[in-house]
Amino acid sequence: MIVIPGPASQELSCKIAELSGKKLVPIEFKRFSDGESRIRFTESVEGEDVAIVQTTGPPQNENLIQLFIMANNARDLKAKSITAVVPYFAYARQDKRFRPGEPFSVKTIVSLFETCGVTRIITVNSHNPEILKTFTMYIDDLSAISLLAQYFKQQGFKEAFSISLGKKAVNMAIQADSVLEGGYGYASTQRDKVTGEVTIEEKTLPIKNRDVVIFDDIISSGGTMAKAVEWTRKQGARRVYTSCVHPLLIGDAKDRILESGAEGIIGTDSVPSPFSVVSVAPLIVKALG
Ligand code: R5P
Repeated sequence: MIVIPGPASQELSCKIAELSGKKLVPIEFKRFSDGESRIRFTESVEGEDVAIVQTTGPPQNENLIQLFIMANNARDLKAKSITAVVPYFAYARQDKRFRPGEPFSVKTIVSLFETCGVTRIITVNSHNPEILKTFTMYIDDLSAISLLAQYFKQQGFKEAFSISLGKKAVNMAIQADSVLEGGYGYASTQRDKVTGEVTIEEKTLPIKNRDVVIFDDIISSGGTMAKAVEWTRKQGARRVYTSCVHPLLIGDAKDRILESGAEGIIGTDSVPSPFSVVSVAPLIVKALG
């Protein structure tokens, strides 16, 4: 298998190639003055099992198009199989028609992968793993929560209380607790379908005078996490850390979270950011085989 580093995931691709011992085939990348991309493989892919690594965080649309173009090119150039390694899966949150007339965007994205010749997708903590299972495409959804929890354990947070956001995401808290062993719970979050405003249901968790780590799949505007931090502080939590797999951290997200009383933000390198402390490379290497 050869690894092709997409423009959005150069560093992560190098880590994956290095850890796995697989050959990295560099690309030649040019962005034209009008914004279009040209991506050239610098070696033949004919007859090869190809893993193209390209995250699809902001700018999502550009990163997706680059990935589609690379995959389709690999097919045209007779690659044997094409695995798209997409650590952050754009549009995964649009996993149903929330209101009449809205698109089921994640379905569109998966069908575009198929059209471009992708035979398998590997992703990490996609927003709704269950929905990915309903597509015919072979999609591996890996979880980086244990890696994040191990980071906290190494930093002396053993026995911190693990909290996930939303009942459906309680598995994240369970996975974290299997490492931190300080108990777990979830905050019931509710997002208004029109305004996007998030509210958290009143309930008490056993976190008074305890260290807490709040886990979420994505931090985007930081609004959900900032509310969750305030919610735990009100209940008397001692130190509150925030953690997510995909630190998109748009605009003033970092400040919102820190000003709400969090000690810090720890994310993975599924998308590059100043908070991408934990690498998902070992997970991906294992899945690539
Ligand atoms: C939502 O369902 C996700 O799990 C995250 O909680 C959400 O995407 C975070 O968004 P924001 O940072 O904009 O509140």
